[in-house]
Amino acid sequence: MARDPVLETLRDAIGDTRVLTDPAIVAGYVGDWTGRFVGRTAAVVRPVSTAGVAAVVEICARYGTPLVPQGGNTGLVGGGVPTRGEIVLSLRGFSDTLSVDAAAAQATVGAGVLVSSLHRAASAAGLAYGVDLASRDSATVGGTVATNAGGLRVLRHGDTRTQLLGVEAVLGDGSVVSHLAGLPRDNTGYHLPSLLAGSEGTLGVVTAVRVRLVPATRARAVGLLGFASVERAVTAASQLRNGLPALAAAELMLSPGLELVIHACHLSRPLRGRHPAYLLVEIADETGVYAGGGVTAGGIPGSTVGDAGVGGAGIGGGSLVGRATVLETLADAVASLPGVQDASLAGDARGCRALWAYRERHTESINTFGTPVKMDVTLPLGVLPSFVETVPASVAGIAPEARTWLFGHVAEGNVHVNVTGTGSGGRSRGRSTGGDAEDRRIEDAVFGLVADNGGSISTEHGIGTAKRRWLPLNRSPSEIAAFRRLKQALDPAGILNPNVLLPAAP
Ligand code: MLT
Ligand code: ZN
Repeated sequence: MARDPVLETLRDAIGDTRVLTDPAIVAGYVGDWTGRFVGRTAAVVRPVSTAGVAAVVEICARYGTPLVPQGGNTGLVGGGVPTRGEIVLSLRGFSDTLSVDAAAAQATVGAGVLVSSLHRAASAAGLAYGVDLASRDSATVGGTVATNAGGLRVLRHGDTRTQLLGVEAVLGDGSVVSHLAGLPRDNTGYHLPSLLAGSEGTLGVVTAVRVRLVPATRARAVGLLGFASVERAVTAASQLRNGLPALAAAELMLSPGLELVIHACHLSRPLRGRHPAYLLVEIADETGVYAGGGVTAGGIPGSTVGDAGVGGAGIGGGSLVGRATVLETLADAVASLPGVQDASLAGDARGCRALWAYRERHTESINTFGTPVKMDVTLPLGVLPSFVETVPASVAGIAPEARTWLFGHVAEGNVHVNVTGTGSGGRSRGRSTGGDAEDRRIEDAVFGLVADNGGSISTEHGIGTAKRRWLPLNRSPSEIAAFRRLKQALDPAGILNPNVLLPAAP
């Protein structure tokens, strides 16, 4: 069989064992975990040093061979999948660098370090990392930078871009840019971390980052609240955000999604009855202004605190006269919140985790129902309730058999729209860029509705291959032209993830 000159040159540069072509191994890198995007590749390259990545990129630029950088492959828009036969450049080997500078409250982190490992390292130093997401045990820090991941605590700490003080990356010509000193104030020109965050591997391959850390959470309390309508839940989320400085998360769930999670994950019912809409809220104390310990909350109409194995800790102890615990604070806030029909609160670690499961396990539960068409959109809060009401009917008008699942980071106006049971099963193979005609009609309808209401077609998942055709709904021709000029400047050969983010050239 003829030897491929690109692969031969790559082997010479980084070693035989780092260029994987065995189909059984390569198969683990060509599909996304939702099953929606499946591609193909001749090879997966796994360099373990920045010089190795630079060599790979330089060789591919020389031969005009496209590359898809890949981290933990937990993305949801096909951005790390070789949909057109690109070589996969895996960064998972970059997991050795993880050093916490407690005095500066910063960490230097290799691209392949798992988000959960960074959490553990920060916690060991009495600090925390501000970005958290359900895929924390598989997602790599480099991947979350490339996609500018958001997750569950953006309300409190911002998205991944917000955490970045410095970046090391290989640009499309193989040159290395490295600025990892972590000076908190450093106003010396273009801020490459901001540019590379969310660039989805199209401008450079991130190999390491310097991130800020935040004070560790000393105590947290979580509440799951039932409402008669989405509108009431959204109003309550706004009131909590405006009046409760310790609010760390506010997540919207709907009755069908919660019932699905209960069924798929064999969880007990968190509240006595069913409600059309739910809020999962968390308050976190990082400052120690609250009294220690948890107490059983009271004063909430219909409260099921302590029920279903997920309720308040009832621990007591440590409560100081005149200082409320976080659980008491949450209980008071919930008690004075209009529209709450029922609530379950927890102030101990086990109870908080148990309540979070109803929200965090939405994605895996939806996947048991079929491969979803995933949309991830932001709406102005004023129109979010009517959007949530309109979308299922609009999807049903196109695909009567389909189910629409809605949930999201409501404090930031996010709704995750997942649709299962479409004609294609949501699956997109080979050269396809977004599923079959029915999927596309659904996406057209939902993204059209989003644009008509002044929203964004991507809150946090990015554009990837899944949404590139709809980018013009949110970005003007001059913005897209500026994006193309940036791409041309940093990746002159056009080899870095060329089939994501930017719409196909006209
Ligand atoms: C989440 O917040 O759980 C995910 O971003 C949503 C999804 O899987 O669609
Ligand atoms: Zn999300």
